[in-house]
Amino acid sequence: MTAYNDTPRSFAIGGDMDVNRIGYGAMRLTGQPGNFGPYPDWEGGVALLRRAYELGVRFFDSAYAYGPGWADRILGEALGDSDAVLATKGGVDKPAAGQITVDGSPETLRRQVGEAMENLRRDRIDLFQLHRVDPQIPIETSVAALAEMQAEGLIRHIGLSNIDQAQLERALSVAPIASVQNRFNAAERGAEAMVDFTAARGIAFIPYGPLGAHPMQAGAKLNPQVALAWLLKRAPNIVVIPGTTNPAHLDANVATWAAL
Ligand SMILES: NC(=O)c1ccc[n+]([C@@H]2O[C@H](COP(=O)([O-])OP(=O)(O)OC[C@H]3O[C@@H](n4cnc5c(N)ncnc54)[C@H](OP(=O)(O)O)[C@@H]3O)[C@@H](O)[C@H]2O)c1
Repeated sequence: MTAYNDTPRSFAIGGDMDVNRIGYGAMRLTGQPGNFGPYPDWEGGVALLRRAYELGVRFFDSAYAYGPGWADRILGEALGDSDAVLATKGGVDKPAAGQITVDGSPETLRRQVGEAMENLRRDRIDLFQLHRVDPQIPIETSVAALAEMQAEGLIRHIGLSNIDQAQLERALSVAPIASVQNRFNAAERGAEAMVDFTAARGIAFIPYGPLGAHPMQAGAKLNPQVALAWLLKRAPNIVVIPGTTNPAHLDANVATWAAL
């Protein structure tokens, strides 16, 4: 593990999207259980997202699969016309609650980028992440499709999620990669080497499940303040995305970052 002595407040994702290192994960602003359907308290969710922006959150993480489409839609309604960095993902679909399909084909990625632009109300996606590698499609093929859309101006930066170092190196041979999003928190440290690998290359590392929550169940498993501070001190390229539906929890999470 590399030791870092300072805890910078912001990180420039892709070198040009400078965001505070306290972000927000929108997966839970969907129907429950299974993150399926629209968030039932729609106006409350919109207000929560705008409150996050007012508190200084500038990085919001979503995915086509959350809802599907509904997390992107609520983000677009709340912050589509703001200067916040709105990140989403593609290559995974959720046809029904509890069901997940993976499709990293160029055709599906292009369709999902188009839908994300509409749902996020943006004419370019700030950060489009491949949600998972499709075992049927070489990662080079999926990343080349994203790079093509980047060249067309539809995507600003490309990110990857749920990948290992060999896959990242293969992707880097095709296009610049701005971020990696893998599960990582104080109690689940399987991505230690990936944190250091990305830090050394100026690639953002976006740990999901930062509070140790089970993806399909509500509730932080770790002390939120301790868990977020641990991540923010772990490496300067880490941008945390705790997910919450509770304004008081949002305030507390931002306060942890602000106090560092
Ligand atoms: N790339 C992937 O495959 C992947 C997979 C899973 C998640 N993600 C991303 O990572 C984000 C975060 O992950 P996550 O939401 O699963 O887990 P998490 O951030 O570790 O934990 C979220 C849970 O913690 C609670 N919580 C948040 N702040 C709290 C606080 N200050 N005090 C007490 N409880 C608090 C929330 O409940 P309340 O609503 O009651 O606050 C929620 O149930 C997601 O939103 C999504 O954007 C990505």
